[in-house]
Amino acid sequence: SEKSLKEVVGDKFLMGVALNVRQSSGADTSAVKIVKQHFNSIVAENCMKCEEIQPKEGVFHFEDADRFVQFGIDNGMTVIGHCLVWHSQLPDWFCVDEKGQNVSPEKLKQRMKTHIQTVVGRYKGKVKGWDVVNEAIVEDGSYRKSKFYEILGEEFIPLAFQYAHEADPDAELYYNDYGMDVQGRREGVVKLVRSLKEKGLRIDAVGMQGHMGMDYPDIQKFEESMLAFASAGVKVMITEWDMSALPTALRSANISDTVAFKKTLNPYPQELPDSVSQAWNKRMQQFFQLFEKHADIVTRVTAWGVTDSDSWKNDFPIRGRRDYPLLFDRNYQPKEFIQKMMDEQ
Ligand code: XIL
Repeated sequence: SEKSLKEVVGDKFLMGVALNVRQSSGADTSAVKIVKQHFNSIVAENCMKCEEIQPKEGVFHFEDADRFVQFGIDNGMTVIGHCLVWHSQLPDWFCVDEKGQNVSPEKLKQRMKTHIQTVVGRYKGKVKGWDVVNEAIVEDGSYRKSKFYEILGEEFIPLAFQYAHEADPDAELYYNDYGMDVQGRREGVVKLVRSLKEKGLRIDAVGMQGHMGMDYPDIQKFEESMLAFASAGVKVMITEWDMSALPTALRSANISDTVAFKKTLNPYPQELPDSVSQAWNKRMQQFFQLFEKHADIVTRVTAWGVTDSDSWKNDFPIRGRRDYPLLFDRNYQPKEFIQKMMDEQ
């Protein structure tokens, strides 16, 4: 039988992957083959986000999300929902009235409740767990000054968890964020977890997105954060794992279509040089070993896309970059560190 990543991981943690709609609809057959062979959990890359699922007030588009959930059920996978409350990919109507003024706290609560309970309720018993709130704490540990925060203050987070729990009491509930190695944010998230628990609210895990690069995060700081969250009484999930192989691009770079620009910001337009590839594989393996070492607290590791060609990193933060951040390459082959683990098994 063909070897697989999920067999390598065994029952240490779930091995997940984010699907785009070409994959969850079955159209991208080569990617689907990889998903079925190597992964036992899926999350929706975009189709459950607010702007997709409720683009206008009261107008819900469930087609893509339904298909995504069904894909998981048909293949016996653990289905994860992403995400209920997030300042980004949020339709304009959500926090303001027709005149563009912030709605009242009562109105925003009602909209949050309707959104969360409609979405969570629809997939009750089918979606195992939800990213309830995404990216609400900034690097110094304070709250992001989003519309949700502006209108409701800190309360918007416990409210979101309460609404989600009411809609599906059996669903796991997660707080998800990026840059979790940063000490300020780590402490802010620990504080948030403790306060939710003190209020008697359900929170099962902290999701550490895990968008990495060759020079960040520091592996030791990442580990300290994993342990800090576990000490606060929740599990840890690596929810959006990828590692850019490119040098960090400066947002302030001169974005004009010059040869110099392309060389700087898109240094490997054909393929990754061997030396970079080796360093990337080594670093990915170190993180993978870290997750395995802490299998008692890590319950899921999810890659943010199937192959390099699917990755959002190709266009982030500047369009036209060609990146190599995922576990499978553009020819649908496992990266070296994955192949090595499967061979050794
Ligand atoms: C990204 C998707 O991968 C892109 O396709 C989309 O255009 C933007 O969002 N943090 C998150 C994810 O929680 O939802 C984001 O996904 C990546 C950053």
